[in-house]
Amino acid sequence: MELKNDLLLRAARGEKVERTPVWMMRQAGRILPEYRAVREKAGSFIQLATTPELAAEVTLQPVDLLGVDAAIIFSDILVVPEGMGLPYEMAEQKGPIFPATVNTIADLEKLRVADPENDLGYVLEAIRLTKTGLAGRVPLIGFAGAPFTIFCYMTEGKGSKTFSVAKKHLYADPEFSHLLLQKITDSTIAYLKAQVVAGADLVQIFDSWAGILSPEQYKTFSLPYIKQICDAITEVPVTVFAKGAFFAREEIGKLNCAVVGLDWNMDITESRQLIPDKTLQGNLDPCVLYSSFDQIRAEVKKMVNQFGTQRYIANLGHGVYPDMQPDKVRCFIEAVKEYSA
Ligand code: CP3
Repeated sequence: MELKNDLLLRAARGEKVERTPVWMMRQAGRILPEYRAVREKAGSFIQLATTPELAAEVTLQPVDLLGVDAAIIFSDILVVPEGMGLPYEMAEQKGPIFPATVNTIADLEKLRVADPENDLGYVLEAIRLTKTGLAGRVPLIGFAGAPFTIFCYMTEGKGSKTFSVAKKHLYADPEFSHLLLQKITDSTIAYLKAQVVAGADLVQIFDSWAGILSPEQYKTFSLPYIKQICDAITEVPVTVFAKGAFFAREEIGKLNCAVVGLDWNMDITESRQLIPDKTLQGNLDPCVLYSSFDQIRAEVKKMVNQFGTQRYIANLGHGVYPDMQPDKVRCFIEAVKEYSA
């Protein structure tokens, strides 16, 4: 199906656009009352994510209700460990928990490389249903966690400020670490390729915990695995978003990816210099959306002027927070459209 609005894909490929495309990380869910109604009906986050009809419905909501230039499939990065044989739970108000963790070579030998159709078929079905529902209105973004970020959850078993259990393995048992990272990478490549076959028009890799690593550890334990993914996904543009990895921008810029995501700690002009030949995505501090409508517009104008309207995809510097007002979110989206035209 031909896309009616392909701004995101043209910007990702570095082609000329009439205005800058805009979407938001974590736009599917959280802030919309319409999302909360569907989630209530589903009973739980996992129930919602594993019911393709409902996952597709909440994926479409921000396109209809917020006017974004892309949909992102409603799912989670933690479906990959689940597909490898390590189930997770989502504790209300607290976040993800893995009842069993992976801490030895014997533990990881019990896991499989995920088979996308068998182990993650519900996500692929949600992608197919979403593509039908979108009817070419905007592109659909698929995603996965970066191997290092998934490694953090699989070894630690839950969220953490420091992920010291995960980092302990990098120093104390690099052999185990590399074996687990490779198994996650193999699963992720198969999964992303299947997302593309199901209909994803672009895929984003979220390295949400990149910022807890030293530059040297990042080069050893994260970048090589992201590189394998970028080299393997040749069918659609790939976005790499490594939160907190300001120190690795130059290396990330040399990967086989089309787009590099920036968080709000990363200076825009400096990032353009470090990553001269890729499209950049980002990077408004999400907390700007707690300010007044006038302030939001002023901050967006400043951001668009600094990035320029080309080779740029407007976004926040991380996901939108659950307590943000939909009207403020719409103001952000409208302001990008107005100032970049
Ligand atoms: O972008 C989107 O809207 C698509 C859906 C999406 C979710 N999670 C749904 C979700 C995406 C892209 C993710 C990615 C994700 N999940 C990341 C990487 C992005 C980032 O924010 O850094 C991470 C680290 C996770 C792991 C995760 N899932 C955590 C830490 C939590 C709990 C805290 C939180 O952020 O809500 C989740 C739960 C989760 N994933 C929810 C949603 C809508 C909330 C669960 C609920 O409704 O109860």
